[in-house]
Amino acid sequence: MIVTVNGAALACWTRGRRHPTALLLIHGFPLDHRMWAAQMAGLAAQVHVIAADLRGFGRSSASPVGPLTMDQHADDLAALLDHLEIGRAVVAGLSMGGYIALAFWRRHRQRVQALVLADTRAEADSPQARANRDAAAAKVREAGVGALADDMLPRLLAPANLTNPRLVAAMRAMMTAQPAATIIAALAGLRDRPDSRPTLPTITVPTLVVVGEHDALTPPADAAALAASIPGARLVVIPAAGHMSPLENPRAVNVALRRFLAAVAAAAPAQP
Ligand code: MLT
Repeated sequence: MIVTVNGAALACWTRGRRHPTALLLIHGFPLDHRMWAAQMAGLAAQVHVIAADLRGFGRSSASPVGPLTMDQHADDLAALLDHLEIGRAVVAGLSMGGYIALAFWRRHRQRVQALVLADTRAEADSPQARANRDAAAAKVREAGVGALADDMLPRLLAPANLTNPRLVAAMRAMMTAQPAATIIAALAGLRDRPDSRPTLPTITVPTLVVVGEHDALTPPADAAALAASIPGARLVVIPAAGHMSPLENPRAVNVALRRFLAAVAAAAPAQP
């Protein structure tokens, strides 16, 4: 389904519509909703699953002008929930999706039933990381999206999973399908995103932090610190996975999500 929100046409997929608890899945960078395929298939018997391509990504409308900010994505997703007539949702994001989930909490907290923060962090970019974003954007301009995919892939997957040709091919295909203009605008938005650490103690909804045991970008120790900063948050370390835990070990991620969603639904039935 294509839904026009805030001037952008967002491509959106839903499963399990009969369930009262809604789960909004927010993809990472530079990916699209397909990274959640195993969660959409595996959780639809329990919850109403919604996955969208963020503006500019996947099948959503492109041509972003200026940085693609976390706030813009969060506002788009709130408008998407409006369109779907969903009052509150469990908001789950991986990496960039986690930055957006934290922005969503700041801007639309009344819409958040619970949070899932997967392979992500609250800190803003360091000066070095900001410079790396600009270098990555320059590389995309000069050498194309494939060059960025080549640079990123070895850091996204656990070393053992880099020998899985199907997984590597699927990741590379998803990354290289994203328009260069989107990637450049997203890199600027990632570079300029705010420090979300002051947000963490304000979180009053059940929160699950998920991290791959071999995540090289947001390692388990950082995920533990993230969970410790959020009142009552739980941490689950996913074995045999790196930064892309939902793709690398979908079974373990789905088990963790099912348990968490069952507890959330039991504690506070979803509002229509
Ligand atoms: C992601 O997976 O979304 C990216 O690694 C986020 C980032 O580059 O900060």
